[in-house]
Amino acid sequence: MKASERLETARLVIRRPVRADVKTMFARYASDPDVTRFLGWPRHQSPSDTRRFLRFSDAEWHHWPAGPYLVWSRETGALLGSTGLSFETHYRAVTGYALAKDSWGHGYATEALQAMVELARSVGVRRLYALCHTEHRASWRVLEKCGFVREGILHSHSEFPNLTPREICDVLCYAKLLP
Ligand SMILES: CC(C)(COP(=O)(O)OP(=O)(O)OC[C@H]1O[C@@H](n2cnc3c(N)ncnc32)[C@H](O)[C@@H]1OP(=O)(O)O)[C@@H](O)C(=O)NCCC(=O)NCCS
Repeated sequence: MKASERLETARLVIRRPVRADVKTMFARYASDPDVTRFLGWPRHQSPSDTRRFLRFSDAEWHHWPAGPYLVWSRETGALLGSTGLSFETHYRAVTGYALAKDSWGHGYATEALQAMVELARSVGVRRLYALCHTEHRASWRVLEKCGFVREGILHSHSEFPNLTPREICDVLCYAKLLP
Protein backbone atom coordinates (compact mmCIF):
# COMPACT_ATOMS: atom_id res chain seq x y z
CA MET A 1 0.00 0.00 0.00
CA LYS A 2 1.40 3.43 -0.94
CA ALA A 3 1.27 6.33 1.49
CA SER A 4 -0.26 9.61 0.48
CA GLU A 5 2.28 11.86 -1.25
CA ARG A 6 0.75 14.91 0.41
CA LEU A 7 -0.64 15.46 3.87
CA GLU A 8 -1.59 18.42 6.00
CA THR A 9 -1.31 19.10 9.71
CA ALA A 10 -2.48 22.15 11.65
CA ARG A 11 0.38 24.33 10.39
CA LEU A 12 2.19 22.24 7.79
CA VAL A 13 1.89 20.85 4.30
CA ILE A 14 4.07 17.75 4.02
CA ARG A 15 4.63 16.41 0.53
CA ARG A 16 6.92 14.35 -1.64
CA PRO A 17 9.78 16.40 -3.16
CA VAL A 18 9.86 17.08 -6.90
CA ARG A 19 12.50 18.40 -9.32
CA ALA A 20 11.26 21.97 -9.08
CA ASP A 21 12.11 22.00 -5.34
CA VAL A 22 15.86 21.44 -5.80
CA LYS A 23 17.09 25.04 -5.60
CA THR A 24 14.90 25.86 -2.61
CA MET A 25 15.97 22.72 -0.76
CA PHE A 26 19.62 23.52 -1.42
CA ALA A 27 19.31 27.13 -0.29
CA ARG A 28 17.01 26.60 2.72
CA TYR A 29 18.68 23.70 4.53
CA ALA A 30 20.77 21.22 2.55
CA SER A 31 23.78 23.54 2.18
CA ASP A 32 23.67 25.03 5.70
CA PRO A 33 26.55 23.94 8.00
CA ASP A 34 24.48 24.49 11.16
CA VAL A 35 21.50 22.48 9.92
CA THR A 36 23.62 19.58 8.65
CA ARG A 37 25.99 19.40 11.63
CA PHE A 38 24.39 16.32 13.21
CA LEU A 39 23.06 14.72 10.02
CA GLY A 40 24.26 11.48 8.49
CA TRP A 41 24.65 12.85 4.95
CA PRO A 42 27.35 15.25 3.73
CA ARG A 43 26.25 18.88 3.43
CA HIS A 44 25.34 19.67 -0.18
CA GLN A 45 28.04 21.63 -1.97
CA SER A 46 25.94 22.51 -5.03
CA PRO A 47 22.40 21.94 -6.33
CA SER A 48 23.70 18.90 -8.23
CA ASP A 49 24.05 17.14 -4.83
CA THR A 50 20.42 18.00 -4.15
CA ARG A 51 19.41 16.67 -7.59
CA ARG A 52 21.20 13.41 -6.69
CA PHE A 53 19.13 13.27 -3.51
CA LEU A 54 15.98 13.70 -5.64
CA ARG A 55 16.96 10.64 -7.68
CA PHE A 56 17.44 8.71 -4.43
CA SER A 57 14.05 9.96 -3.21
CA ASP A 58 12.31 8.83 -6.41
CA ALA A 59 13.91 5.38 -6.08
CA GLU A 60 12.73 5.12 -2.46
CA TRP A 61 9.21 6.08 -3.47
CA HIS A 62 9.31 3.55 -6.30
CA HIS A 63 10.38 0.62 -4.11
CA TRP A 64 8.63 1.36 -0.82
CA PRO A 65 5.28 2.66 0.46
CA ALA A 66 6.81 6.12 1.09
CA GLY A 67 10.10 7.99 1.16
CA PRO A 68 11.37 11.52 1.80
CA TYR A 69 8.96 14.42 2.32
CA LEU A 70 9.36 18.19 2.39
CA VAL A 71 7.76 20.29 5.10
CA TRP A 72 6.12 23.59 4.11
CA SER A 73 4.38 26.33 6.06
CA ARG A 74 0.66 26.41 5.35
CA GLU A 75 0.58 30.05 6.35
CA THR A 76 3.43 31.47 4.26
CA GLY A 77 4.13 28.72 1.73
CA ALA A 78 7.82 28.75 2.76
CA LEU A 79 9.87 25.57 2.72
CA LEU A 80 10.63 24.74 6.36
CA GLY A 81 12.64 21.54 5.92
CA SER A 82 12.42 17.82 5.37
CA THR A 83 11.36 14.60 7.02
CA GLY A 84 10.38 11.16 5.77
CA LEU A 85 10.39 7.42 6.19
CA SER A 86 13.22 5.17 5.11
CA PHE A 87 12.04 1.56 4.99
CA GLU A 88 14.31 -1.33 5.96
CA THR A 89 11.54 -3.94 5.67
CA HIS A 90 7.79 -3.58 5.10
CA TYR A 91 7.31 -3.37 8.91
CA ARG A 92 10.40 -1.40 10.01
CA ALA A 93 11.38 2.15 9.05
CA VAL A 94 13.72 4.91 10.16
CA THR A 95 12.64 8.52 10.39
CA GLY A 96 14.37 11.88 10.78
CA TYR A 97 13.90 15.60 10.27
CA ALA A 98 15.91 18.66 9.32
CA LEU A 99 14.58 22.19 9.40
CA ALA A 100 15.94 25.45 8.04
CA LYS A 101 17.48 27.47 10.88
CA ASP A 102 14.83 30.18 10.87
CA SER A 103 12.22 27.48 11.53
CA TRP A 104 13.74 26.06 14.72
CA GLY A 105 11.97 26.47 18.02
CA HIS A 106 8.37 26.62 16.80
CA GLY A 107 7.40 23.00 17.36
CA TYR A 108 7.47 22.24 13.64
CA ALA A 109 9.74 19.17 13.98
CA THR A 110 7.40 17.74 16.62
CA GLU A 111 4.37 18.37 14.38
CA ALA A 112 6.11 16.81 11.37
CA LEU A 113 7.26 13.78 13.37
CA GLN A 114 3.74 13.20 14.70
CA ALA A 115 2.56 13.16 11.10
CA MET A 116 5.27 10.63 10.17
CA VAL A 117 4.17 8.38 13.04
CA GLU A 118 0.58 8.33 11.78
CA LEU A 119 1.70 7.87 8.19
CA ALA A 120 3.95 4.96 9.19
CA ARG A 121 1.09 3.37 11.12
CA SER A 122 -1.21 3.74 8.12
CA VAL A 123 1.11 1.72 5.87
CA GLY A 124 1.74 -1.09 8.37
CA VAL A 125 5.03 -0.07 9.98
CA ARG A 126 5.38 -1.81 13.36
CA ARG A 127 8.69 -0.34 14.45
CA LEU A 128 9.57 3.27 13.68
CA TYR A 129 12.92 4.40 14.98
CA ALA A 130 15.46 7.19 14.85
CA LEU A 131 19.11 7.57 15.70
CA CYS A 132 20.68 10.74 16.97
CA HIS A 133 24.01 12.01 18.14
CA THR A 134 24.40 11.68 21.91
CA GLU A 135 24.82 15.47 22.32
CA HIS A 136 21.85 16.47 20.18
CA ARG A 137 19.42 17.36 22.95
CA ALA A 138 16.90 19.18 20.76
CA SER A 139 16.48 16.04 18.69
CA TRP A 140 16.03 13.80 21.78
CA ARG A 141 13.41 16.18 23.01
CA VAL A 142 11.45 16.04 19.74
CA LEU A 143 11.51 12.23 19.85
CA GLU A 144 10.49 12.10 23.51
CA LYS A 145 7.64 14.59 22.96
CA CYS A 146 6.32 12.22 20.28
CA GLY A 147 6.43 9.21 22.60
CA PHE A 148 9.57 7.55 21.29
CA VAL A 149 11.40 5.48 23.90
CA ARG A 150 15.15 5.61 24.34
CA GLU A 151 16.25 2.00 23.88
CA GLY A 152 19.93 2.60 24.46
CA ILE A 153 23.24 3.69 23.04
CA LEU A 154 24.66 2.07 19.92
CA HIS A 155 28.42 2.30 20.27
CA SER A 156 30.67 3.34 17.34
CA HIS A 157 27.62 3.13 15.11
CA SER A 158 27.36 6.16 12.83
CA GLU A 159 29.56 8.50 10.90
CA PHE A 160 28.72 12.20 11.03
CA PRO A 161 30.34 13.52 7.86
CA ASN A 162 29.83 17.20 8.73
CA LEU A 163 31.53 17.05 12.13
CA THR A 164 35.21 17.84 12.48
CA PRO A 165 37.00 15.59 13.05
CA ARG A 166 34.85 13.21 11.03
CA GLU A 167 34.45 10.40 13.51
CA ILE A 168 32.46 7.27 14.02
CA CYS A 169 30.28 8.11 17.01
CA ASP A 170 27.96 6.55 19.54
CA VAL A 171 24.29 7.28 18.86
CA LEU A 172 21.08 7.15 20.85
CA CYS A 173 18.44 4.79 19.51
CA TYR A 174 14.82 5.89 19.98
CA ALA A 175 11.92 3.73 18.86
CA LYS A 176 8.15 3.78 18.77
CA LEU A 177 6.22 0.55 18.40
CA LEU A 178 3.02 0.87 16.40
CA PRO A 179 0.51 -1.83 17.30
C1 LIG B 1 16.50 19.26 15.86
C2 LIG B 1 15.45 20.08 15.14
C3 LIG B 1 14.78 19.23 14.11
C4 LIG B 1 14.41 20.56 16.16
O1 LIG B 1 13.38 21.22 15.45
P1 LIG B 1 12.35 22.19 16.17
O2 LIG B 1 11.22 22.44 15.24
O3 LIG B 1 13.08 23.35 16.73
O4 LIG B 1 11.87 21.25 17.35
P2 LIG B 1 10.61 21.51 18.28
O5 LIG B 1 10.40 22.99 18.42
O6 LIG B 1 9.49 20.67 17.80
O7 LIG B 1 11.11 20.88 19.67
C5 LIG B 1 12.44 21.13 20.13
C6 LIG B 1 12.50 20.83 21.61
O8 LIG B 1 13.87 20.74 22.00
C7 LIG B 1 14.15 21.72 22.99
N1 LIG B 1 15.52 22.15 22.76
C8 LIG B 1 16.00 22.90 21.76
N2 LIG B 1 17.33 23.05 21.91
C9 LIG B 1 17.68 22.37 23.02
C10 LIG B 1 18.91 22.15 23.69
N3 LIG B 1 20.06 22.64 23.23
N4 LIG B 1 18.90 21.38 24.82
C11 LIG B 1 17.75 20.85 25.29
N5 LIG B 1 16.53 21.04 24.67
C12 LIG B 1 16.53 21.78 23.56
C13 LIG B 1 13.13 22.80 22.78
O9 LIG B 1 12.95 23.59 23.94
C14 LIG B 1 11.88 21.95 22.45
O10 LIG B 1 11.35 21.33 23.59
P3 LIG B 1 10.06 21.95 24.37
O11 LIG B 1 8.92 21.95 23.38
O12 LIG B 1 9.85 21.04 25.52
O13 LIG B 1 10.43 23.37 24.78
C15 LIG B 1 16.06 21.33 14.46
O14 LIG B 1 16.84 22.02 15.37
C16 LIG B 1 16.88 20.97 13.25
O15 LIG B 1 16.36 20.82 12.15
N6 LIG B 1 18.21 20.84 13.42
C17 LIG B 1 19.10 20.54 12.31
C18 LIG B 1 18.86 19.17 11.71
C19 LIG B 1 19.00 18.08 12.72
O16 LIG B 1 19.94 18.06 13.50
N7 LIG B 1 18.06 17.13 12.69
C20 LIG B 1 18.02 16.01 13.62
C21 LIG B 1 19.01 14.97 13.31
S1 LIG B 1 18.93 13.62 14.49
